[in-house]
Amino acid sequence: MSSHETWDAVDAYITETLALRDPALDTTLKASAAAGLPPIAVSEPQGRMLQLLAAVQGARSILEIGTLGGYSTICLARALPEDGRLTTLEYDPAHAEVARGNIAAAGLADRVEVRVGAALETLPQVQADGLGPFDLVFIDADKVNNPSYVRWALELSRPGTLIIVDNVVRNGKVSDASSQDPAILGTRAALEFIAAEPRLVGTAVQTVGSKGYDGFALARVVG
Ligand code: SAH
Ligand code: DHB
Ligand code: MG
Repeated sequence: MSSHETWDAVDAYITETLALRDPALDTTLKASAAAGLPPIAVSEPQGRMLQLLAAVQGARSILEIGTLGGYSTICLARALPEDGRLTTLEYDPAHAEVARGNIAAAGLADRVEVRVGAALETLPQVQADGLGPFDLVFIDADKVNNPSYVRWALELSRPGTLIIVDNVVRNGKVSDASSQDPAILGTRAALEFIAAEPRLVGTAVQTVGSKGYDGFALARVVG
């Protein structure tokens, strides 16, 4: 078996053994595919990891940047108490529409709001509306803007906030210091920002699985 076949088989095994699928998540993936959305949601094991991190965090307010069909949104929102709030920012109105349907079908419409627009344009309104500080921020949109998104996450945080950035490894390309790929440059700058910012303690962890070889950055706001 090639590496990727092994990663697929293990993710399928983990998903089955730990019962990580359910009707709402299955419907979300089916509706997203039927609407022509790209298959780039977090995997089932990664989605459960996000849910667990939000629960460990005791999160009552969550910000997500990059909704797609709402798969990661639903995972994160499941960790919220009934009066918790998740705000998710999505550029593409068609993606937002699919996500709203999936979130409603998952029974989470009462605590999730999808805001449409380029996140750099909607984030100031999120701030003006007093939706922060957020207990957890999940950054998973256009990678070129990752440095700005980490800055915004910090701006909308409190000590103890957890910031998670998806897709920071991209098949190993992140360590290529000569890369001119704007997405890689954005992610490298975001990691450098985390390192240089005394209010953040961060790391990045490589992952393999059905979504390939990638990784997450995790940063906690301190003092
Ligand atoms: N978090 C999702 C996957 C998000 S894919 C999940 O795991 O289920 C990335 C999403 O970011 C896409 O839907 C894309 O339309 C959106 N996006 C791209 N540029 C954006 C921007 N400038 N502002 C907000 N969303 C953006
Ligand atoms: C892409 C974006 C993602 O958020 C992801 O998890 C995988 C791939 C992409 O733009 O290719
Ligand atoms: Mg992603």
